[in-house]
Amino acid sequence: MSNGPAKVSRETTSRVPGMLEGNAFDSEDFSRTPFGSISTADTPIAAEAQRASQVLHPGSMNIPKPREQRIITIANQKGGVGKTTTAVNLAAALALQGMTVLVIDLDPQGNASTALGVDHHSGIPSSYELLIGEIPVQDAIQQSPHNERLLCIPATIDLAGAEIELVSMVAREGRLKTAIQEANLAGYEIDYVMIDCPPSLGLLTVNAMVAAKEVLIPIQCEYYALEGVGQLLRNIGLVQSHLNPELHVSTVVLTMYDGRTKLADQVAEEVRGHFGDVVLRSVIPRSVKVSEAPGYGMTVLDYDPGSRGAMSYLDAGREMAARAVGATYAPDPVAATPVTEGGDVNEERGR
Ligand SMILES: Nc1ncnc2c1ncn2[C@@H]1O[C@H](COP(=O)(O)OP(=O)(O)O)[C@@H](O)[C@H]1O
Ligand SMILES: [Mg+2]
Repeated sequence: MSNGPAKVSRETTSRVPGMLEGNAFDSEDFSRTPFGSISTADTPIAAEAQRASQVLHPGSMNIPKPREQRIITIANQKGGVGKTTTAVNLAAALALQGMTVLVIDLDPQGNASTALGVDHHSGIPSSYELLIGEIPVQDAIQQSPHNERLLCIPATIDLAGAEIELVSMVAREGRLKTAIQEANLAGYEIDYVMIDCPPSLGLLTVNAMVAAKEVLIPIQCEYYALEGVGQLLRNIGLVQSHLNPELHVSTVVLTMYDGRTKLADQVAEEVRGHFGDVVLRSVIPRSVKVSEAPGYGMTVLDYDPGSRGAMSYLDAGREMAARAVGATYAPDPVAATPVTEGGDVNEERGR
């Protein structure tokens, strides 16, 4: 026998202390709740909430502007080492922390354009027309839909023929530099330019190295990590002595670090032994979220702001910015916490 469903009021009659009202977040109120006393060291969820809150309230973490515009080429002729991932996520991290950043996609695959959610079908004004000299730089610049300070010159499939077309052109190595300089990036006041290179040492990469002062080399924490790096360094040396005396390797980033393996630590040690202080202390962990984000036209900072991947790129951005102005860099306590075995399993499951 049933009396029918009980009538339950769906109204919330009284406000629970610490409950969010609208978008307001009262940290004092929150600290009086049972959750308020949990430190980030206590639970992974609390740590993640703190990280997400940091990313979602970027005003609290502005970084110093560089003394002059920094143009950074992200190069490694090996494919799949994290060049594009590092270019877009570092750019997003810098933009979130107050910088205006332009990503130039120089890989015909257009992966950086995809990750930034920027249109790059054939015919869109792109890095190809810029190199060929058909358009001024401002015509090729698009804004990423996720951040108004994050700009992109996309790459279309047309760029695939550029290596060959450039061979017969005048000043073929300096075309990108001229294109960027001539327009002086009109009206944008760009703090950082990040150039994402294809996995080769051809004319596109040479153009990127002539346009930049700095080279950032991403190195994957895997077997054969340093394979090919000697050749890359020799090429950088050649460009430096013949075309661009200011060019230097300013930054090495360790990517896809897996804390569960001894190998990752061995590689990190070897790379630090080889490059010394140029290697960022912030290490990018292998993270499912980082690899999922481009599928949604997003950087990991938009896709999952609380993830370790997002945090590590924020931290890397902070470290790069601090180095440029000679400031001391204090690693974020959460991002710098060594990943324990449990944490890593979490990372693989969903983070
Ligand atoms: N930290 C990371 N964790 C997990 N996957 C990653 C990470 N960094 C890069 N990847 C994945 O590795 C692959 C190669 O990265 P990508 O940045 O495209 O390399 P490259 O531009 O050097 O060819 C991509 O599928 C990317 O999603
Ligand atoms: Mg790439």
